[in-house]
Amino acid sequence: MTVAATRRRRLPGPRGRLLLGNLADVRRDMPGLLLAMAREYGPISRLRVGPVPMLLVADPLLVHDMLTKRASAFRKSTRTGELIGGHLGNGLITLEGAEHRRHRRLVQPALHTRRINGYGGIMVAEAVRCLDSWADGAEIELTAELADLTLRIVSAALFTVDDLAADVVEAMRGFAYSLNLAVRGAALLPAWLPTRAHRFRRHSVRRMDAVAYELIRRRRDRGVDAGDLLSVLIRASDDDRGARLTDAEIRDELLTLFFAGHETSASALAWAGYLLAEHPEVEERLHAEVVTVLGDRPATVADLASMPWLGQVVQETLRLFPPGWLFDRQPIDDIELGGYLVRRGTIVMFSPWVVHRDVTWWAEPDRFRPERFGDEVPRPAYLPFGDGPRTCVGNRFAETEMALVLATMVPRLRLELVPGQRVVPAGDATLRPKGGLRMVVRRRA
Ligand code: HEM
Repeated sequence: MTVAATRRRRLPGPRGRLLLGNLADVRRDMPGLLLAMAREYGPISRLRVGPVPMLLVADPLLVHDMLTKRASAFRKSTRTGELIGGHLGNGLITLEGAEHRRHRRLVQPALHTRRINGYGGIMVAEAVRCLDSWADGAEIELTAELADLTLRIVSAALFTVDDLAADVVEAMRGFAYSLNLAVRGAALLPAWLPTRAHRFRRHSVRRMDAVAYELIRRRRDRGVDAGDLLSVLIRASDDDRGARLTDAEIRDELLTLFFAGHETSASALAWAGYLLAEHPEVEERLHAEVVTVLGDRPATVADLASMPWLGQVVQETLRLFPPGWLFDRQPIDDIELGGYLVRRGTIVMFSPWVVHRDVTWWAEPDRFRPERFGDEVPRPAYLPFGDGPRTCVGNRFAETEMALVLATMVPRLRLELVPGQRVVPAGDATLRPKGGLRMVVRRRA
């Protein structure tokens, strides 16, 4: 259908208030609001946040088209840049066009399968250290414990933490907290206002910068390939132009991967812990599989192929609670989408969380049933890592990390949810259990 022939009638969507639109609902429970919109209004609908109209594309095939065949008709929304650019600068998440392709070419080798096999040892060693610190009967806050674990894993893999280890982890904690504040505030307040959140952002970015530039300086001075991402970035040179990445470009890419690579995995693992605690029959089967394959030796990347149930548990966790739950794009020109005319620059959202619960593609979508991944996966309706040219560059890393951490956990311990908690997802930068997850550790004999 040509743009001119497209219907101009108004898109359906929830009624909002005169000035604020749907802001109150957005702030109360955005994941719930998006699901309700998809169920009530179908493939494409609209809402308004203050004066800003936003579309939600809920239909899996439309989303798939947007991300693949029609990818070049869209850019990342300027909102993404505003929300996270102040922290992450110009890295893979925010770059566009030729610059994006150039960075992607330079970064990808660090996350190739061959490199990831090398990171497997780090993942297991850090998991053992973390899990062995949990005493039998202890009550832990699982999301915080796992955020620490994945932070350690990604720092070791990205830049072989040396004597700056403690500084890096501390600086990143503040930095990630500040970034989440920015995303939660959803750019409601302009950056120049002297709010506490903005002051905190400036402080944590300054602190993170100091550590990042020191890491880069030390590595340049030593000039060795440490087999980590930092070495790849420093040595990477552009075939077309022979130009190396500048320190500022390396800083932005390092922090982008550092951030994208730990909160997402931590949220995913926390949901896996929760789902296994709530489904003892799934956990028992997983335990049996892991113990049969490994005996009492530690897991390796090579073992993962022999543990299909483990892979299915990982996939089903990412379906039910995809940490990357909401993204947006803007059409570069006026376009047709689902039979509607969409003006250039309109914010168009898509949500793996919504797509993964589409009843036309998934039977009983709210149930945790890893066995569904024993059959053929309905691809367009499964996109925990996105799709097309902007698909997650760390997907292999993340899947490997999740599987290895679970394979290390299950033989050692079970988790029990502390009773009386209402577990609901909060739509922060990642989809996480609201208010954390209190768990009791039951070590296996
Ligand atoms: C369970 C863990 C993870 C999930 C669910 C996840 C999800 C996603 C999704 C859905 C996108 C696409 C965003 C879009 O289309 O706008 C994305 C992009 C990205 N992810 Fe991940 N991710 C995970 C782990 C990681 C890890 C471990 C790294 C790095 C080590 C990473 C680095 C990135 C980067 C740099 C991008 C931007 C890619 C680009 O635009 O070229 N992610 N991720």
